[in-house]
Amino acid sequence: MKTLRYKVVFLGETSVGKSSIVSRFTRDEFFEFRERTIGAAFQCKTINLENDCIVKMEFWDTAGQERYRSLAPMYYRAAKAAFIVYDITNKGSLDNAKSWIKEVTMKGEPDSVIVLLGNKMDIINRQIECEEVASFAKANNVIFSEVSAKTGENINNIMTIVAKVLISKIPSQDNMPEPFTIRSQTNNKLILGGCC
Ligand code: GTP
Ligand code: MG
Repeated sequence: MKTLRYKVVFLGETSVGKSSIVSRFTRDEFFEFRERTIGAAFQCKTINLENDCIVKMEFWDTAGQERYRSLAPMYYRAAKAAFIVYDITNKGSLDNAKSWIKEVTMKGEPDSVIVLLGNKMDIINRQIECEEVASFAKANNVIFSEVSAKTGENINNIMTIVAKVLISKIPSQDNMPEPFTIRSQTNNKLILGGCC
């Protein structure tokens, strides 16, 4: 059995729910009120894939407040995956997410997996339509999903997808998962160039 370790970073404006997504995935917890992250927080989680492959994700959950922005390169440097989060009820947070995509694409690890997450999909009064972001994601070749840290919707699915994409980038074909198509997920809000 092979364990593969990956540095993974979470970026995005303050209050979009980065820490909540990490907590939902690593500990299956959610808090209505939580402190803003200071600097960055570290969490790990292992995912067991088919073919006896274990992926250990080492999450760096960065602080979204502007005053911490200069620290971000330390966390996205050498990260094999970058989750860039916006809040579907806050238009400005999507603009912020787009600027993170640019920065990580230009200055991050070449060939890193970039994942755009629209969080808080449990809230009915949205400001950002899924279709609009799906087109952007397709044009920019990033994986996109709406998620909810509160209900857990799509969180495990997207993490499994990213783990599979990460191991599919390993040159050696040993312990590779079965061929995997992101579009074939049961929940149609998981997108790589598709629409919800
Ligand atoms: P910083 O640490 O300042 O960068 O913020 P953050 O992006 O880590 O946000 P955090 O996870 O602290 O969440 C901010 C607020 O949004 C908290 O009150 C959460 O309870 C709430 N929240 C997070 N995710 C969701 C969600 O999926 N749905 C709803 N309704 N609220 C959420
Ligand atoms: Mg936080």
